Amino acid sequence: MSETQSKPDDGSSESQSAFVPVEAFDLVVFGGTGDLARRKLIPSLYHRFCDGQIPENSRIVGTSRSDRSGIEYRKIISKAYKEFSSGDDYDTSCWDDFEQMVDYVPLDVADKDADWKSLGKALSKNKERIRVFYLAVPPELFVGICQGLKAAGLVTKNSRVVLEKPLGTDYDSAKSINEGVRAVFDENRIYRIDHYLGKETVQNLLVLRFGNILLEPLWSNRAIDHIEITAAESIGVGGRGAYYDGAGALRDMVQNHLLQLLCLTAMETPASLDADDVRTEKLKVLRALRPITSENAANHTVRGQYARGKVNDEVMADYLTDVGVDFSETETFVAIKAHIDNWRWAGVPIYLRTGKRMATRRSDIVIQFKPVPHSVFGDTHLNANRLVIRLQPDEAVRLWLEIKEPGAGGMRLKTVPLNLTYADNFTVRYPDAYERLLMDVVRGNLSLFMRGDEVEAAWKWVDSILAAWGESEQRLELYQAGQDGPEEAHDMLSRYGHKWV
Ligand code: BG6
Repeated sequence: MSETQSKPDDGSSESQSAFVPVEAFDLVVFGGTGDLARRKLIPSLYHRFCDGQIPENSRIVGTSRSDRSGIEYRKIISKAYKEFSSGDDYDTSCWDDFEQMVDYVPLDVADKDADWKSLGKALSKNKERIRVFYLAVPPELFVGICQGLKAAGLVTKNSRVVLEKPLGTDYDSAKSINEGVRAVFDENRIYRIDHYLGKETVQNLLVLRFGNILLEPLWSNRAIDHIEITAAESIGVGGRGAYYDGAGALRDMVQNHLLQLLCLTAMETPASLDADDVRTEKLKVLRALRPITSENAANHTVRGQYARGKVNDEVMADYLTDVGVDFSETETFVAIKAHIDNWRWAGVPIYLRTGKRMATRRSDIVIQFKPVPHSVFGDTHLNANRLVIRLQPDEAVRLWLEIKEPGAGGMRLKTVPLNLTYADNFTVRYPDAYERLLMDVVRGNLSLFMRGDEVEAAWKWVDSILAAWGESEQRLELYQAGQDGPEEAHDMLSRYGHKWV
């Protein structure tokens, strides 16, 4: 992994970050007018361009089915940028320079007779130059696009491909995508994106765990009682109903983002931060996940779907209305009691929870430590220590400790946090996850991307849950929009003597 450097604490709270320019590159975005390209990819490239990291002679080529000119494409992305970003950082002169690099080529990748030559013409003649093919399209098109690129002679030795999630819909489809893509690109030129790995606070998990000596001796079933990982969203399914209704929360969030968070939280110390060292450790965690069966699904999982309700005083429609269907069994919420069957984590439940239209947007990892083995404080209640890693928003790390409340009145204990908030400690702009990931693709750094076997192992576990739900006809529980999921998710933890934080 590149970019690792630590500065001594000089007492100042100011952080500085340096942008090391990358080599000039050509980047083709398949799905160039899609939501992801307009909201995330183009804005991320623009920011890194303005930061001086992307050389001016790089090329960005958007492509999609529609016939339109480069000028029309540039208008689309500029309008989208103004609409989706806060607008404060729109620098007209920088945008004008950025636009010089952007072009558009119409290409219907599903058409067998499509003309791939025009795409080739839009790329640099220099065959040594880094070429990135970003597939921001549905997964059923991945293999066809790779074959099309190969047949058109566009895959050079410095080419790499980026696969956007979802990477299939189950283990079998993921495996056949992996095989099809590997027939064109070697594994070390395939960048499978999980944008959670590009988030600052998610990368910080590695530093927190492996850059501090304090935590490791406690990081196991000896001192940890249970772990909670929550990714709650207040948004609904937006305009993505068609995709989402076929996917559901388990495939959309758990298979990738939540399992990646679980891996970084639970994996053993990697030999180094090199891609394969990290990915091998993550794979071991995924392989040790205990499968969910039809016998234990009802006790270990909850599926929910949002009904009409209020989020921040605003009335929100139910899921069916949002998606525009009369009936759907798709879950917009899932809670799971997971177990990692290895020495470190034996007996430690790991609760995963994600949902749409919940009360607030927040992603947290909660490490709940065990109580002290014996209390010398008589009848005084002692709260066990807890580490809360707030991934987003209001990024923070809070370690809740017992302290003596100062003053008269005997030995009164209080639970207070050592409170490290990003807002108080750092002043840099937080880059969007895609910025870092895109630059890593250009740099050829695979550490924050998933390897094929990792994705397949994650699907295997998720498939066990889907099969268990099917066999046991697991109920779909309704929850009101604005609630933290269905009551059954709270009941599940109560059964084991725990409570969501
Ligand atoms: C995406 C999911 O991968 O992640 C979306 O498809 C979800 O459904 C999104 O809303 C959440 O990402 P973030 O960065 O807002 O937490």
